[in-house]
Amino acid sequence: MTTPIITIDGPSASGKGTIAAIVAHRLGFHYLDSGSLYRLLALHTRQQSIAWDDETRVAAAAISLPAKFIDGHSWLNGKEVSATIRAEHIGNGASQIAALPAVRAALLQRQRDFCAEPGLVTDGRDMGSIVFPMALLKIFLTASQEERAERRYKQLINKGESANLPQIKLDIINRDVRDATRSIAPLRHESDALLLDTTQLNVDQAVEKILMWFQEKQAS
Ligand code: C5P
Repeated sequence: MTTPIITIDGPSASGKGTIAAIVAHRLGFHYLDSGSLYRLLALHTRQQSIAWDDETRVAAAAISLPAKFIDGHSWLNGKEVSATIRAEHIGNGASQIAALPAVRAALLQRQRDFCAEPGLVTDGRDMGSIVFPMALLKIFLTASQEERAERRYKQLINKGESANLPQIKLDIINRDVRDATRSIAPLRHESDALLLDTTQLNVDQAVEKILMWFQEKQAS
């Protein structure tokens, strides 16, 4: 029997991280938030004064990235950085370095190493297409740009941070364009992934839908 894998790919601020983590918890599976690996690498290279467009040096840093995930928290160089890597500028840096082929190649095996019994739920942009093409269930999770901008806005306000809705919307549009038009592993809805549009769904409804699809796949 192969280890069951659920991949959830989709654009930024679609809620896939929140949903994937709950699905993993409900099934007792491991969870990989692949975006946080790119974010950790963006932070690490920034701290090392490595330019985000220096493909050779960023890829070298990826191979020896001193990062760990412990109980849903991200650690870099022995320091907890879960909040730091969520900053918008680190997200933008992650998106820049993620467009570099050598960087993606360097992170590939590291991501595959997260697959372990009893199963894995993972979210990102290319989890179903490149990293885990053999996954049992592949989902493309999205929501309208307006809805995603509003969710991100509310998230920042709830954290007590200042937020500007038109600016957030612009950032989301720019990130979508960069992620979808890059030459390597572009974000797109692959034909073997089930589409889940959460514009009109809350988190619980999205989670239930995925668990139902998973049961169906396991039974087939
Ligand atoms: O999902 P998150 O916003 O944390 O990801 C940050 C950036 O990392 C994305 O904008 C995307 O460019 C990149 N990424 C990627 N492939 C993944 C996960 C994230 O290219 N599997």
